[in-house]
Amino acid sequence: MKNGKKDAQASWGGRFSKGPSELMLRFSESVSFDRLLAEFDIQGSVAQAKMLAHTGIISKRESAQIVAGLSKILKKIRAGEFAWDESLEDVHMNIEQALTRDVPAAAKLHTARSRNDQVATDMRLFFKFACAEASEKIGGAIRVLLKLADGNRHILIPGYTHMQRAQPVSAAHHILAWVEMLARDAERFGFCAEAANVSPLGSGAIAGTTLPIDRLYSASELGFTDPETGDPIVTGNSMDAVADRDLFLEFAFACAVFGTHLSRIAEDVIIWNTSEFAFVKLPDEFTTGSSLMPQKKNPDAFELMRGKSARLIGNLSSIFALVKGLPLTYNRDLQEDKPPVFDSFAQICVCAEVLSECARRIEFNPDKCAEAVSDPLLLATDLADYFVMRGVPFREAHHIVGRLVALSEKKSVPINELPDSDVFALCDRADSSWREVFDLKRAMGMREKIGMPGPKQIEAQIAAWREIFA
Ligand code: ARG
Repeated sequence: MKNGKKDAQASWGGRFSKGPSELMLRFSESVSFDRLLAEFDIQGSVAQAKMLAHTGIISKRESAQIVAGLSKILKKIRAGEFAWDESLEDVHMNIEQALTRDVPAAAKLHTARSRNDQVATDMRLFFKFACAEASEKIGGAIRVLLKLADGNRHILIPGYTHMQRAQPVSAAHHILAWVEMLARDAERFGFCAEAANVSPLGSGAIAGTTLPIDRLYSASELGFTDPETGDPIVTGNSMDAVADRDLFLEFAFACAVFGTHLSRIAEDVIIWNTSEFAFVKLPDEFTTGSSLMPQKKNPDAFELMRGKSARLIGNLSSIFALVKGLPLTYNRDLQEDKPPVFDSFAQICVCAEVLSECARRIEFNPDKCAEAVSDPLLLATDLADYFVMRGVPFREAHHIVGRLVALSEKKSVPINELPDSDVFALCDRADSSWREVFDLKRAMGMREKIGMPGPKQIEAQIAAWREIFA
């Protein structure tokens, strides 16, 4: 805190005889985290300055001086040469004070604006950027997963329900299920970006301004426009505009859902990586050893992804708790809205990168997968279907196969090695072809309807996703 307490109140100190205490400054500052908004804050101020000139509230010359000063400050910030000062509270005051030192006209910049609509504007610009970034990073992970799926189309594994072997699928089909989840995440961030695309600038502190501003002009300047028509889009109620934190919730929700998906993907991989399953081998670069047990190779990257999801869910809860009891409109509590979303954004970015890098290097173990998927019970349902195709009602077919499963267990003989007579005794519609059901290749080939794991389906799905995430 280089500046004295007086600087701290430079923008609002008129009615005060004493400045805030050092403790209060330390307690209330947000520049330590909201400096992340600097680029957007400057964009917002440039638009504001241009709008003020456009409407004749300030001169064109003053506006140009402000814009030039802001661009100098932006360069400094980008170069890491800007001296942030916590005693100046937040990013908005830091930039405005620095500008005012250089450009006297900057004293007019805050005309018809409050930090309330200013921070709402900054955050909407941030959300548009962050959503695009998130979608891009998720798209990157999807591209890697598509490659992994493509390379493992021939590998069959058991699919599980209740963590019990259920039915055979290809590794590709399982990976494509992950792709579906992540594609929804990318789409969800797209919706969030769309919701962010509305300008609150000009709402002032709560009730707008008496000055003849042009909200549509500044909205256009900032790109808050309809992507089809190019028309500016602005908020419809000045009170809601400064109090609304829905986007924070929506963004944190999108992050939390993505985190939950990552966590479930991670859990699949962690299970596959156990010695008991050993379906996959994880890359050395993303696993760690034990300081005590020399043999260990732990799936830490995936465990951390699973762990980070807790944090992302927590961030969403924080924002809910923060907002739920607040009367309209702005309350200083709302300053606490930023750390959770910034944290969620940072975490999802690094998680998406880690997932991409890991997925690039995951190797399937063909022998172990083949061994697991050779369990004929995985095709018990196919046998029931076989009976159904011969006119047996499904409930009866299910019962017959259940009896055969029990018989195979009792005799300690794999179900597909039971004698024909056992099958014929339970179902007079069967003939010796019943055993063909247990040919895995045939079984997969019979699953070629939309969304199923048949090889042609998988090929088509990979191609379709590749087109979407090209
Ligand atoms: N740093 C503040 C925040 O993020 C900016 C808005 C301050 N507004 C106010 N009325 N004190 O919430």
